[in-house]
Amino acid sequence: MAIRLGDTAPDFTAETTEGTIQFHEWLGDCWGVLFSHPKDYTPVCTTELGRVAKLKGEFDKRNVKVIAISVDDVESHKGWVGDINETQSCTVSYPIIADPERQVAQLYDMIHPNALDNMTVRSVFIVGPDKKIKLMLTYPASTGRNFDELLRVIDSLQLTANYQVATPADWKHGDVCVVVPAIKTEDIPAKFPKGHTVVKPYLRMTPQPNL
Ligand code: BEZ
Repeated sequence: MAIRLGDTAPDFTAETTEGTIQFHEWLGDCWGVLFSHPKDYTPVCTTELGRVAKLKGEFDKRNVKVIAISVDDVESHKGWVGDINETQSCTVSYPIIADPERQVAQLYDMIHPNALDNMTVRSVFIVGPDKKIKLMLTYPASTGRNFDELLRVIDSLQLTANYQVATPADWKHGDVCVVVPAIKTEDIPAKFPKGHTVVKPYLRMTPQPNL
């Protein structure tokens, strides 16, 4: 059955470039990003894994573990990591899952045969500390993903989880936030002492609470 937002992320045991992992145990109390790519030794994938390596500190700051996956085996991944480090001027320091039997790819519906036969498309799953799926993205093989956007989504998700605010269109760090509808307008001053604006009864804005 297809995975939906709010579902528990399917657990699995898999071989990776950093040894065998059991996904939920590996995540521990952290947030997680699981992202698939079609194939090792391909150009767009090489730039993507390099970009994630360079952003690793940003994911760490947010208590997010990142893990990549494709249907190639561990030996292939390890050889390719050398190329990624060399060409993208980075050090890949996160695990890459080897999924030659497509066990994880099937669990997460990462193979879309009408788009890409027998290879994983560019899927992204953000998983919360409660192991629930918070975001799903699917990109075509020819389009490299925007990993700054993933960090932006993580910031938004963490603001909602920790402060009961949502984020408006094109929100970026430092912009005003939206008070979630579950909070009554009369309760806003106590919860959001930095101030608020009632634009409409259903549209209440407040400065980003964690600044
Ligand atoms: C790439 O990573 O460049 C790629 C992989 C599969 C199909 C097309 C592009």
